[in-house]
Amino acid sequence: EARPLRDIYKNDFIVGVALANSDLDDPKSVSIVNREFNSIVAEFGMKMIDVIPKPGIYDFYWPDKFLRFAEENGHSLIGHTLVWHKNSPDWFFRDEQGNPLKREQLLVKLQEHINTYVGRYRGRVTGWDVVNEAFNNDGSFRKSPWFNIIGDDYIEKAFEFTHLADPTAELYYNDYGLVHSKKQEAVISLVKRIRSKGIPVHAIGIQGHYSLQFPDLSKLDQAISRFSKEGINVMITELDVSVLPFVSQDVMEQGAIVSEVKKLLLNPYPNKLPDSIADSQSNRYVELFCIFIKHSEFINRVTFWGISDKHSWLNHWPVNGRVDYPLLFDREMKPKNALKRLKE
Ligand code: XIL
Repeated sequence: EARPLRDIYKNDFIVGVALANSDLDDPKSVSIVNREFNSIVAEFGMKMIDVIPKPGIYDFYWPDKFLRFAEENGHSLIGHTLVWHKNSPDWFFRDEQGNPLKREQLLVKLQEHINTYVGRYRGRVTGWDVVNEAFNNDGSFRKSPWFNIIGDDYIEKAFEFTHLADPTAELYYNDYGLVHSKKQEAVISLVKRIRSKGIPVHAIGIQGHYSLQFPDLSKLDQAISRFSKEGINVMITELDVSVLPFVSQDVMEQGAIVSEVKKLLLNPYPNKLPDSIADSQSNRYVELFCIFIKHSEFINRVTFWGISDKHSWLNHWPVNGRVDYPLLFDREMKPKNALKRLKE
């Protein structure tokens, strides 16, 4: 049997995987995770809405279970994610009477939340994606409730609060589209600004939701070089390679044009991925890993966004009902050729 991924790349980086809550109780998933990987992250089970489903009511069932699984099986656990424009419930931004909170009130509430949540796992969660997706591709701040109510320093405050709640945890800023130069520059200035205040940022997370064509590999290569030259380490945090027509998250969020949506709904390979496409995907994975290895001095971890094609979020995003094949295991949880190629 071929050596596990985590073993093959052990001198380069940690190899992680995102798990659905149900994976923790699924023997097939568990055996793959424990054989191939050495780091886990909850695909959704540790996001804000899952942890505080109702005002003031915490539910730590899943985070506790993720931590136990990680500790029992020797994985590092990454906390994903504390502050994000999605999965922050609307009521979080209001008081008990339903009035919108003011800056100072929201800051107090955020710090209390981070103290409760991050503090609970102090010393045991390896690192947190403190803030997720705060910028637009043009480098401007995303106009989320966090930004609108607090202002642009909500990001550094979140890092500060997390650091105070667990000084041993690594802190990451996580985003997609970091091959866009203006967004790259915005993230670099952000990291510099936070660090200049004595607050740590250990790395940035490049999500890595890619396709057969996107991104241009030389751009990705340049982006990683650019971050490393600025003294910023990189994690590849949500790697998958879609084989379907690709539309950026931003286009979708701005309301995609009808023809784009139609293209997306097409399921060109409803039953099986043709060998030629599977080959392109394997090549793509190999090319991506070549870039990661080239920069392995600055890349500490590469995490796949799921185990198998069957459970990938890309079957539901950006529109429901797609049949995508983005990961290393097929719908029967059998290793795909892409996995074999990554082991050669
Ligand atoms: C996605 C999950 O995969 C889905 O299961 C969930 O319903 C929505 O979020 N960028 C991120 C991830 O940072 O948290 C997103 O995960 C995918 C895009």
